[in-house]
Amino acid sequence: MPNQTLLVLSGPNLNLLGERQPEVYGHETLADHVAVVEAAAVEHGLAVEHLQSNHEGELVDAIHAARGRCAAIVVNPGAFTHYAWAIHDALAAFDGPVVEVHLSNPAAREPWRHTSVVAPVASGTIAGFGADGYRLAVQAVAALLGR
Ligand code: DQA
Repeated sequence: MPNQTLLVLSGPNLNLLGERQPEVYGHETLADHVAVVEAAAVEHGLAVEHLQSNHEGELVDAIHAARGRCAAIVVNPGAFTHYAWAIHDALAAFDGPVVEVHLSNPAAREPWRHTSVVAPVASGTIAGFGADGYRLAVQAVAALLGR
C-alpha cells in the first residue's frame, strides 16, 4: 500500500525532554515518546520517521519532503507553535492529516503560549495529556486515515 509512513516532527528544545522542566513536560525522553509512537503506529500498519530539530528551516524542509510520500504528520512544534508561520505555510501545502501534539496544555500557561499558528492547518490538536498525547495522536491519525 502506498503512503504508509507517519512523519513525526519535534521542534526546538524537545531534545532535552527528560531533563527539561520535568514538572511541566514529564520524565520521559524524546526517545521514549518516539518508541510509544512506533508501537502504536505498527498496530495500524504505519512506519514511523522521526526528526527533531532546533531549526525552523529543517522542519520546513522535512514537511516539503513528506509531500506525496508520507501519509500523515504528527508534530510537536515546541515554541515554534506560537510564531513560526513558515511551518504553518509548509503544513498547509501537505495533503494528509496533521495532528498537533503538546505534552503540556499551552492554553493553561503564559498568554504568549495561547496562540498556535499551527492549529489552523492541523486536523486537530492533542494537548495537556503528557506522554499519553503521542499515543492519542497516532489513534487520531489512524482514524483520519481510515485504518
Ligand atoms: C510544548 C509547549 C510549548 O509552548 C513549548 O514551547 C514547548 C513544548 C509542549 O509539548 O507542551 O517547547 O510544545
